[in-house]
Amino acid sequence: MRAIYPGSFSPPTLGHLDIIRRAAKLFGEVVVAVLSQSEKRYLFSLEERKDMLRRILIGVPNARVVSDTGLLADVAKREGADVILRGIRDASDLPLEMQMAAANRQIGGVDTVFLVCSPEYSLLSSSIVRDCARHRAPIAGMVPPEIVNDIYAACLRDVGL
Ligand code: COA
Repeated sequence: MRAIYPGSFSPPTLGHLDIIRRAAKLFGEVVVAVLSQSEKRYLFSLEERKDMLRRILIGVPNARVVSDTGLLADVAKREGADVILRGIRDASDLPLEMQMAAANRQIGGVDTVFLVCSPEYSLLSSSIVRDCARHRAPIAGMVPPEIVNDIYAACLRDVGL
């Protein structure tokens, strides 16, 4: 079975990596899809997010990374995904996830399955990582080591340094 794991990944965190590694043991292939929410402005370009994910997933042979500016349902169809995979950090994630799952099923006829995040990552988010990095606080326990410098560099770029 092929699962598609969509997200904005701005930046990817250890929580995302945990979900991908666990999913790679459950599914024949995991397609990690870097997408965008139309109203959001991202610190990293689509290409930068894809490149960071590629580097941190080198050790996961049945995971590959794609990116797209369009609808998840279309990308899932194009990639031949059997299911959409999402991680749930706590109950507050559920209402939005259920809405997205219903919409994707309606638009694309594809079901969503959920993995519960490992407890050590349940309070982690990309915006926390960005905020810490902007203040030059340590982020080593939040993101894979391969992308720490990319995140500090992007934060400096964002403030025009
Ligand atoms: N560990 C740590 N953090 C996690 C996590 C995990 N396992 N899973 C989610 N998060 C965090 C992210 O870091 C992010 O934090 P932030 O809000 O502080 O930046 C937050 O949860 C949500 O991230 P993500 O899972 O990437 O979802 P998203 O809401 O940014 O992305 C898309 C949603 C991109 C998948 C969705 O908008 C989409 O499908 N877009 C394409 C267009 C489309 O099809 N629209 C219709 C959708 S029904």
